[in-house]
Amino acid sequence: MNLARYAIRQAADADVEPIMALLDETIAWLKERRLDQWQGNNRKRQRAHVETDLAAETLFVVERDAALGATIRLDEFADTDFWRDEDDRAAALYVHRMAVARSDRGVGLGSAMLDWAAERAEAGERKWLRLDAWQTNGALHLYYKNLGFEMVRIEPVEYRGSGALFARPADYRHGDGPALIDLARTDLE
Ligand SMILES: CC(C)(COP(=O)(O)OP(=O)(O)OC[C@H]1O[C@@H](n2cnc3c(N)ncnc32)[C@H](O)[C@@H]1OP(=O)(O)O)[C@@H](O)C(=O)NCCC(=O)NCCS
Repeated sequence: MNLARYAIRQAADADVEPIMALLDETIAWLKERRLDQWQGNNRKRQRAHVETDLAAETLFVVERDAALGATIRLDEFADTDFWRDEDDRAAALYVHRMAVARSDRGVGLGSAMLDWAAERAEAGERKWLRLDAWQTNGALHLYYKNLGFEMVRIEPVEYRGSGALFARPADYRHGDGPALIDLARTDLE
């Protein structure tokens, strides 16, 4: 049984370095597994994205005993390389750049964050929770399918590694993983 207590909150300036370290660690893990996902990431650009998302208040972190356990970005941004007019872009909230620290893998933190994101999507009267995943990573596609997502389609964009589009109804909860104490909600209200 997992007795750790996890809390989710909005990212703050002091989280930039820990988030970068978590992304570095994740990219190294993917490389070890000989996966090309995120291998072309430019660290400087990545950091700029983290800072932009932080300022936009769309970046969140999960902490366990004040240590960074995971990060997720959640917003209305539907990447127009992938999502078309007929997808009704405004009908969803979109998950981006979700990563769990190796020390906190395997307890269902990803699932818990996706349920948290779904709650926000539903509260905002969105019909869907959506994301785009790495096109060629079958194991990652299976991960999302096992959590109740359906693949919408693969959108092959020559210069993008991502483009496997997934959606789950906003009112769906997978219901596993540790409870997340939602400090983000409190902070925003
Ligand atoms: C996806 C993620 C957030 C889920 O975290 P979690 O809820 O703790 O789940 P786990 O890490 O235990 O992963 C579940 C399974 O999916 C696999 N998996 C997760 N991400 C994967 C990836 N990018 N590529 C291949 N397999 C992956 C894990 O190896 C694990 O497989 P196993 O059950 O055979 O051991 C975390 O694994 C992660 O940070 N992955 C790398 C970054 C990533 O791909 N993020 C999603 C971007 S769309």
